[in-house]
Amino acid sequence: MTDSLIIFDTTLRDGEQSPGASMTREEKIRIARQLEMLRVDVIEAGFPAASNGDFEAVRAVAGIIKDSIVCGLARANEKDIIRAGDALRGANAGRIHTFLATSPIHMEKKLRMSPDQVLEQAVKAVKLARSYRDDVEFSPEDAGRSEVDFLCRVLEAVIAAGATTVNIPDTVGYTVPEQFGGLIRTLRERIPNSDKAVWSVHCHNDLGLAVANSLAAVMHGARQVECTINGLGERAGNASLEEVVMAVRTRQDFFPCDTRIDATQIVPASKLVSGITGFPVQPNKAIVGANAFAHESGIHQDGVIKSRETYEIMRAEDVGWSANKLVLGKLSGRNAFKKRLAELNIQIDSEEAMNAAFARFKTLADRKSEIFDEDLQMLITDEAAAHDNEHYRLLSMMVHSETGETPTARVVMAEEGDEKRAESPGSGPVDAIFKAIESIAGSGAELQLFSVNSITSGTDAQGEVTVRLQKEGRIVNGAGADVDIVVASAKAYINALNKLHAKLERAHPQV
Ligand code: KIV
Ligand code: ZN
Repeated sequence: MTDSLIIFDTTLRDGEQSPGASMTREEKIRIARQLEMLRVDVIEAGFPAASNGDFEAVRAVAGIIKDSIVCGLARANEKDIIRAGDALRGANAGRIHTFLATSPIHMEKKLRMSPDQVLEQAVKAVKLARSYRDDVEFSPEDAGRSEVDFLCRVLEAVIAAGATTVNIPDTVGYTVPEQFGGLIRTLRERIPNSDKAVWSVHCHNDLGLAVANSLAAVMHGARQVECTINGLGERAGNASLEEVVMAVRTRQDFFPCDTRIDATQIVPASKLVSGITGFPVQPNKAIVGANAFAHESGIHQDGVIKSRETYEIMRAEDVGWSANKLVLGKLSGRNAFKKRLAELNIQIDSEEAMNAAFARFKTLADRKSEIFDEDLQMLITDEAAAHDNEHYRLLSMMVHSETGETPTARVVMAEEGDEKRAESPGSGPVDAIFKAIESIAGSGAELQLFSVNSITSGTDAQGEVTVRLQKEGRIVNGAGADVDIVVASAKAYINALNKLHAKLERAHPQV
């Protein structure tokens, strides 16, 4: 019998800590539903004590998700744990994940606590969390740089206090695979009650080793891996879920365990997260990059035609690339549209919202003959983005671009309902439209990133644009989609301005 490897997805919590990746409650719900379709075991839905918005998002996810455990993060203090316990009240299966730093540098400089105080507080936190839920996880933050003797003392004590999972984070992505795997082996061997808890790992990718470290830990007995879709996460990100899952599945000759993930949902999950957060996926990214299964060289192409296995260790369709099905067209009716949304696990709550979505679908189908699943996902994401904290709204625009002439753009926007118009020249059509929008908004924000990806193939594909703006240390990502990439660019810029305008105040778990 192969062991189960528990997949703990933290896209909605650690992933959200990427600068600019913060998500609304509705966005979190959509991603959570997709994670449930992917069959992840645990969904870390957020950090309820961060803000009322985060609390509500965790509560909403807990109320909706039935097949995955929903988890809330809490620092090891009474207020955070009570908040997490309350947010998870409606969960079918809920987990509290509490953490406290154990490395000398964090204890001395950040917490200003002695090791004995840390141990005492960790035990107290786990006991309190157990009074809310039977499923409690404890993480000694910065375990990768903690002293092994102290880690053993803390972990033995928290297991005795009721922690059912102990998670070893390499918070700063400092360790290397042999060392990290060895750490897991040592902890499991030296801690007398180690068999009373599931061993988990949470690796950051600062040295590009998050997946390698996680897999090394699995070889030494870890049976839960914390990871994110597309490797999203604080700084260089977390271990990427798709890489961990497919490494374990592809190398069943090597790994002593497997996951229950439905791998055909990986690419749809990747596209959804990328569309919602505005973080594009690099083309050469393993598993989910656009080129991950493309063969460029003639020798490779020839080999694959003769026998696929010559150059392919996985099949594109097994990880969901075939999900790019032609589903609907201009003549498709409301029922077909509704049915496909339901199959994609996209819920639209009101009749009014369904009518609006269907109207947008019809407009898109008039301009693009073939509508794929990705188009539908993007249509819903784009609709939600347009109404998200809607301070500014694009009403209409016109761009003139001609060889030898300076491009010009005209825009009509609503600001809090008031119609405003502007016109601007620019070095290109996108530059002109951004300048026209900026002359109305006057945000003074710095444009840090502008990227365009096509959602599907073909010249009539929708362009998905990401705009990253920075102002006074705050970074936001805006996303927009349209078959006209200048319109998509304008939508993305306005979406980013709306996020800057919303100024959501929230605490960071690790500060
Ligand atoms: O990186 C980290 O240490 C964390 C903990 C909260 C598990 O994200
Ligand atoms: Zn982390």
